[in-house]
Amino acid sequence: MPDLCVIPGDGIGLEVVPAALQILEAVIPDLNTVTAEAGWECFQKHGVSVPPETLETIRNCGAALFGAVSSPAKKVEGYRSAILLLRQSLNLYANIRPVRSLPGISPRADIDMIIVRENTEGMYAGLEIMQDGRATATRVITRTASIRIAEMAISILKSQERKKITIVHKANILPLTDGLFRDSVREVIDRSTREGAQITTDEILVDLAAFKMLSAPQQYDMIVTTNLFGDILSDAAAFWCGGMGLAPSLNLGNELALAEPVHGSAPDIAGKGIANPIATILSAALLARFAWQRKSSAMKIEQAVRSALIDLTENGTQAIPPDMTTRMIVNAVLAHL
Ligand code: NAI
Ligand code: MG
Repeated sequence: MPDLCVIPGDGIGLEVVPAALQILEAVIPDLNTVTAEAGWECFQKHGVSVPPETLETIRNCGAALFGAVSSPAKKVEGYRSAILLLRQSLNLYANIRPVRSLPGISPRADIDMIIVRENTEGMYAGLEIMQDGRATATRVITRTASIRIAEMAISILKSQERKKITIVHKANILPLTDGLFRDSVREVIDRSTREGAQITTDEILVDLAAFKMLSAPQQYDMIVTTNLFGDILSDAAAFWCGGMGLAPSLNLGNELALAEPVHGSAPDIAGKGIANPIATILSAALLARFAWQRKSSAMKIEQAVRSALIDLTENGTQAIPPDMTTRMIVNAVLAHL
């Protein structure tokens, strides 16, 4: 019986998480759920964005489904983004972001890549200081974290029968930090190749990688990159899924997993009942696949989403109307389960 900690968070997280849960429960009826708090509203209520009980519940469950949280764009004393805290405190060191063409809605039909983003350090190490009108952020890259993200990437590459890893970095300008990242990833790939794995590797500077994400996205199979670059490239890549409301992700460590849509709390549409729940539904499918090893449940959910999108777009001849409700999309998916 899988246990799941459910964290709706803020904004549309409160709408898309219950929606995805309904789908997950339809496919995995023996799911045992516990709800927990995190985010900006939680900070305003309790003075912490992630209460210790939430961390404890996730550790006990082993898996979590997270919606989104809001973070103010200026410093608030004592506040740190809940999702960054969760990733770091629970050692969820890999962020797995599959980007796949979806029927009816994706701008192209030939996209199938996974972005594997280092999730605990880089520019998001949390080391920002302001002193005498000078603000600095320390970008931390360690060999240990670079090696383990590469090992995770290769294990996923093998399980998905993928062939090519593209290392995205900026080692021309950041030779020590990104040089270390690139060399560590290459070291793991070389070792795996010597052990018989069939992996093609290339590397590309992040600025050109962004251009290629627009001009030739079908060339990517798996991208392995640092925290900030992965964050930016995965929002760009979400365009090929069909939009921010359709891009899923999974934060993965050695023992724990936390699924979350790529998008944020979307305050512009929050409370209107029109948030697209598909990113969260597909994130829940990633939990089934990677955390619970229930591949057939994951495939059932993914297939139901595809079929629902064919219905909702009349096989790609109509756009999904912007006022289509979360509920209508959930019902369209449920109809195929
Ligand atoms: P956002 O991803 O929340 O929204 C960007 C745009 O995409 C908006 O126009 C929004 O309406 C649309 N959108 C997002 N999800 C959608 C969905 N499911 N269905 C339909 N449309 C959707 O990013 P934004 O506006 O930059 O950030 C808003 C807040 O979210 C900020 O406080 C930010 O800190 C937070 N954030 C949280 C994240 C997380 O919890 N993992 C990730 C990104 C942002
Ligand atoms: Mg992001």
